[in-house]
Amino acid sequence: MKEKLIRRYNAAERVNHWIVAVCFIVLAISGLAFFYPAFFWLTGVFGTPQLARIVHPFVGVVMFVGFFVQFLRYWHHNFIDREDVKWMKSVKEVLSGHEVGDIGKYNGGQKGMFWMMTLCMLGLFSTGVVIWRPYFAQYFPIDLIRVALFVHAWAALALIAGIIIHVYAAIWVRGTIRAMVEGVVTEAWAKKHHPRWFREVKARQEQEK
Ligand code: HEM
Repeated sequence: MKEKLIRRYNAAERVNHWIVAVCFIVLAISGLAFFYPAFFWLTGVFGTPQLARIVHPFVGVVMFVGFFVQFLRYWHHNFIDREDVKWMKSVKEVLSGHEVGDIGKYNGGQKGMFWMMTLCMLGLFSTGVVIWRPYFAQYFPIDLIRVALFVHAWAALALIAGIIIHVYAAIWVRGTIRAMVEGVVTEAWAKKHHPRWFREVKARQEQEK
């Protein structure tokens, strides 16, 4: 039987997402290399340690701008509603394979993750500017630079932990990776995991007929 597919992301959204994801991976690798001596060899991700130190903040700006575009695309889909609270309260049941609540485009977990990513991005960018030598750091007092370094490291760790969960969930819920690779999901996937979004898409398709 032929699968019925519906579009979830267009090409621009997918390119946008994967630019952010690739930036995140090289930033996480080089950042961990600066932070933990045991990981210093990972600076090789940018060729040499010196290059890694120079390039890391520039890639950070690309990731921030890329995420900002994602933020503009998705913020209005990420307000937590009553159905999401139901979902969150029954997360154990959800993890055992039974979806709960009339879920829209994203579920409570995805929405929580979206705001966590947003907070981390703002924290990383603002503190990244304060600690960026040789361009900006000289304009800030040393105490502020110390606080900024502390917040930068914690925001990075929180984001890395969050993205591990994001990737795990994307792989674990069968058919989700396809949404961000090919841009489509099956109707069965949408009905099961995002029933309200499925009905909205169908209603729009009916109107366009
Ligand atoms: C590195 C590997 C990554 C993989 C495999 C991955 C996978 C995915 C997949 C499959 C989706 C679609 C989920 C759905 O439509 O239900 C998605 C959505 C999304 N991803 Fe990723 N992702 C990765 C990294 C990142 C990173 C680093 C960020 C940003 C920090 C990010 C931000 C987002 C956002 C904002 C969405 C839209 C979901 C929402 O608004 O709640 N992803 N990702």
